[in-house]
Amino acid sequence: MAIRLSRTFILRKLHQLSGIMPLGIFLLEHFYTNSKALSGPADFNHAVTDLQSIPYILYVEICGIFIPLIYHAVYGLVITVEARPNNLYYPYARNWFYIIQRVTGFILFFFIAFHVLNFRFGLVPGLNRLSVADNPTQAFEIVSREFHMAWVFIVYLVGITATVWHLANGIWLFVVDWGIAIGERAQRMTGYACIAIGLLLLVVGVNAAVAFIRPGGLIPGIL
Ligand code: HEM
Repeated sequence: MAIRLSRTFILRKLHQLSGIMPLGIFLLEHFYTNSKALSGPADFNHAVTDLQSIPYILYVEICGIFIPLIYHAVYGLVITVEARPNNLYYPYARNWFYIIQRVTGFILFFFIAFHVLNFRFGLVPGLNRLSVADNPTQAFEIVSREFHMAWVFIVYLVGITATVWHLANGIWLFVVDWGIAIGERAQRMTGYACIAIGLLLLVVGVNAAVAFIRPGGLIPGIL
C-alpha cells in the first residue's frame, strides 16, 4: 500500500533535519575553529586560512551552510508566526520551552544576519569593512577589534546563548519527534543529556569569544 506524505510533513521534517544536519554540526565546527583563539592570534589565523583553502569552499559554504540556513530560518519564521501558545492555561516547562524555541529562533534570525554581514562579508556600515574569509591573516585582529566594543560583545553573548539554547532544546525535540527516544524515562534522560550538552557548548562558545579580548579566555592557562 502506497503511503502519501503531505507537503507540510515533508517541509517540517526537512526543517527539523536541517537544524541538526548541517546546521548543528556546523555550529560544532565553528566553535572548534573559534576556540583556536585560546592559543593566540597565529593559531586562529591559521585555522581560518586552512578553512579557506578547502577545495570548492564557496560552493561548500553555499550548499552546506547558506541554503540550509536560509531554508531553516525562513520556514522557522513561518512556524513561529503560526504558533498557538497556551502557556497561561498550561504553564508546564515544555510549553515554555516551545515559546523559548521560537523566541531564540527569532533572535537568531537577526543575530546570524548581523554576524554573517559583519564578519563573512564586512558589510555593516560603521563597523568592520573587511571580510574575514578574504583576509585570513588579519582574522583575529578583525574580530578582536569588533569585540572590544562593549555593545558588539554583548550582542555576541546574547547570540551565543540563544544559539546554544536553540540547538540543545532542538536536539531534544528532534530525538523525540523522530522516534529515537520513546517512553517517559528515555525522554527524561535525553532531557538531562541535552542540558549537559547545552552547558558544555555555552562554556566553549563564551570562552572562545572571551579569548578575542583577553588572552587565554575565561581562565588563562587552563589549556
Ligand atoms: C536563523 C534563524 C532560525 C530560526 C528562525 C529558527 C526557528 C526554529 C523553530 C521555530 C523551530 C521549532 C520547530 C518546531 O517546533 O517544529 C526550530 C527548531 C530547531 N532549530 Fe532552528 N531556527 C533558526 C536557526 C537555527 C540554527 C542556526 C540552528 C543550529 C545551530 C537551529 C537548530 C534547530 C534544531 C536542531 C531544531 C529542532 C528541530 C526539531 O523540531 O526537531 N536553528 N528552529
